[in-house]
Amino acid sequence: MKKAIPDRLPTHVAIIMDGNGRWARHKKLNRVEGHKVGIDSVREITEVTRELGIPYLTLYAFSKENWSRPREEVKTLMELLGLYLELELPFMMKNGIRFNVIGETGDFSKALQSQFDNVIKSTSRNRNLVLSIALSYSGRREIVRAARLIAGDAKKGVIKRIDEKTFKRYLYAPAIPDPDFLIRTSGEMRLSNFLLWQVAYTEIYVTDILWPDFRKKAYLEALRDFARRERRFGNIKEY
Ligand code: IPE
Ligand code: IPE
Ligand code: MG
Repeated sequence: MKKAIPDRLPTHVAIIMDGNGRWARHKKLNRVEGHKVGIDSVREITEVTRELGIPYLTLYAFSKENWSRPREEVKTLMELLGLYLELELPFMMKNGIRFNVIGETGDFSKALQSQFDNVIKSTSRNRNLVLSIALSYSGRREIVRAARLIAGDAKKGVIKRIDEKTFKRYLYAPAIPDPDFLIRTSGEMRLSNFLLWQVAYTEIYVTDILWPDFRKKAYLEALRDFARRERRFGNIKEY
């Protein structure tokens, strides 16, 4: 019999939550409905991650490139984001979830920025799970930003050596380990500018399931797949 919960779990799961629009289209609904049901998936996946004791979860919610979508869709996504933050804060407090944002928070409205600050501050002492949401995120921009900050500090003499360890300190979330497992829903086999630096040795899993349908059962199946992987990091298998 298949064991429901794998014995080897990742430390940091990152997810590209994709397929909300297609989910809605298949049901002959407006794309917005897909985003709304997608929020229920966010809740369920966060809950399961917390139950399993996985310490880090990073969700790609809005890319820098997503700003180019039709104005109406962007507007609705911003409203849903505000609603999500408002409704989820009590859940985060109850479950010991620490909230974090990676990306250019300055791109958002002042109202949303103060909501981010409020949720980050309110949850800062929580210790069970670090939930990072990637917002107005671009992996390339994160790398360029780090390079710019490093150049500034090097000029000031604040840093002398520039190596991989130094570089990581200048990324959005220096204290968070690289993801060991990356899930993308909706069948697309691409990274879409997500965590380019951090995924160097991440195990990648793509499922055809669309994000609004990605729930506990599908998540556990993905995690069982991870448990079967042999990670070699460029080394060879020991016989
Ligand atoms: C993912 O679903 C959510 C966001 C990118 C905000 P999509 O909106 O990309 O859905 P599809 O890919 O068009 O189906
Ligand atoms: C990636 O999905 C971004 C998020 C899930 C937030 P997209 O739907 O924007 O990616 P592409 O355009 O299919 O590569
Ligand atoms: Mg998409």
